[in-house]
Amino acid sequence: MRKITIIGSGNVGATAAFLIAGSGLADVVLLDIIEGVPQGKALDMSQAVPLMEAETSILGTNNYADITDSDVVVVTAGLPRRPGMSRLDLLGGNGAIITQVVEKVSEFAPNAVLIIVTNPLDVMSFLAYRKGGRPKQQVIGMGGLLDSARWRYFLSIAANVPTTKVGGLVIGAHGNTMVPLASLATISGRPATEFISPSDMKSVVEKTKHGGAEIVGLLKTGSAFYAPGTAIFTMIKAIINDEKRIISTCCLPDGEYGQSGLFLNLPAVIGAGGLEKIIELDISAAEKEALNLSAAGIREANKELISDL
Ligand code: APR
Repeated sequence: MRKITIIGSGNVGATAAFLIAGSGLADVVLLDIIEGVPQGKALDMSQAVPLMEAETSILGTNNYADITDSDVVVVTAGLPRRPGMSRLDLLGGNGAIITQVVEKVSEFAPNAVLIIVTNPLDVMSFLAYRKGGRPKQQVIGMGGLLDSARWRYFLSIAANVPTTKVGGLVIGAHGNTMVPLASLATISGRPATEFISPSDMKSVVEKTKHGGAEIVGLLKTGSAFYAPGTAIFTMIKAIINDEKRIISTCCLPDGEYGQSGLFLNLPAVIGAGGLEKIIELDISAAEKEALNLSAAGIREANKELISDL
């Protein structure tokens, strides 16, 4: 059985853990700094597994020795967003947590693919890469896939079709400057622009950009976790089953889309090795410009946290 570690047993981490173990995909280690919480959640999930007819195990722990030999390590450890806070407001506090966690992961699971989830995602992924001593293919972030799922959802509502008929990708920052690719969105294989008017498309783009904040506002405490947890599960499935699936992934480009020297979300082939290839799609001139702006914002935030940039 393959082994997945989730660091941070909060809402997002626990949701991902439950999907991974409950589906029978892999054994899970759930690690947190708080004593009792990962153990309690793991015990609860372990008692659900027989009902789901899976043969996986879930271990809750505070001890990094338990993550040894993990195939994938997911980092969701961090402070959550409160209403009115942007993802960038979490920069300093979560930066310290990522530094500390990645050091431990390097010690106990140096060969695992690392998936960063902690916000602000693009900065935290770069920080994890800088601190982790891992090849860039093995450090990826989960943000673009979640934004793409939100984009597909809002497109499906606008066009009044099931989400299964909708194809769409969001690239750039996992934040307000994200770039939903309207020119490439599809409904039943046709351009979505044939079904959705330009003004409706504009409002779908805006809803997608604020999809996370809308949920934060409604929940009052904490942020979204079902869709983020499912997006983590989807990425891990692509790695464990070597799916070679194209996923908008937070990664380090080397000139693709004219970008380098930062982590941002781009379409990439995800398989056994983690990130296998960034795919360059033919995006519109306006989308390219929006991507450049989005990247500029990430570069600014990177400078605040990573001193030698
Ligand atoms: N080591 C391990 N776990 C930690 C550490 C640490 N140094 N610091 C905090 N944690 C744990 C907390 O104890 C908590 O259980 O991380 C968990 C975070 O859980 P939640 O507060 O429920 O946050 P969640 O909603 O799961 O979001 C986690 O994902 O989407 C992002 O912005 C979100 O950065 C946040 C992360």
